[in-house]
Amino acid sequence: MDFKELINARRSVNFFDSARGVPENLLREMVAMASQAPSSFNLQPWSLIVVKDPERKKRLQKLAWDQPKVSEAPVILIVLADRDAWQSGHPFVERNFQEMIRAGMMTEEQRDWFKNARESLYGYSDDARQAFANKNSGFFTMGLMLAAKSLGLETHPMDGFDLEGVRREFSIPENYWVPLLLAVGYFKDTESLAPPKWRKTYDEIVVNFK
Ligand SMILES: Cc1cc2nc3c(=O)[nH]c(=O)nc-3n(C[C@H](O)[C@H](O)[C@H](O)COP(=O)(O)O)c2cc1C
Repeated sequence: MDFKELINARRSVNFFDSARGVPENLLREMVAMASQAPSSFNLQPWSLIVVKDPERKKRLQKLAWDQPKVSEAPVILIVLADRDAWQSGHPFVERNFQEMIRAGMMTEEQRDWFKNARESLYGYSDDARQAFANKNSGFFTMGLMLAAKSLGLETHPMDGFDLEGVRREFSIPENYWVPLLLAVGYFKDTESLAPPKWRKTYDEIVVNFK
């Protein structure tokens, strides 16, 4: 499948084959592919909770508008976006800085420059901190869906869930926002796929304000 076919074929499927699990190697490959997503300063502020256990999925379903796909899909990924993954002292921020030094892209003397750059972009308000989490995790999540499709898997993104309920149930720390739940699995081929949804055209997407 070339990229054009892939992007046109991806759908949010409602029916998953509960009897067909996602092989661990495919799940790992899917996440590795998605991790190629771009991110601000390559800070990669995303994490995943992988939910496969039927009891945990049932509890999650109750917190997600009781959507049946939450327990029918063999895997639910709780996508996490770290609102603090730009701050000094964060382990991945430090790792990132060391990797850039190792790659010859920065020097130890640029530590303060890097800190100021991050703080000026993300440290001035809660909205800026939240936007940092939103935009980067969105690219990652789109990558998860396309990677899944390329591996023969189907997905369904969901934001119909009780964020604070999910936070409590899975003990998710406050610095993480939860952009989405992502159901992953194989299509239940006794069901039929709904027709593709309408999309805005180029002329509807392009705007001018002057
Ligand atoms: C951020 C986001 C949240 C969504 N939340 C839900 C949801 O809670 N339940 C649901 O059935 N579909 C949900 N969807 C799926 C959309 O309805 C679907 O992507 C859209 O109708 C286009 O269909 P397609 O993905 O099959 O092309 C969500 C999609 C996105 C991107």
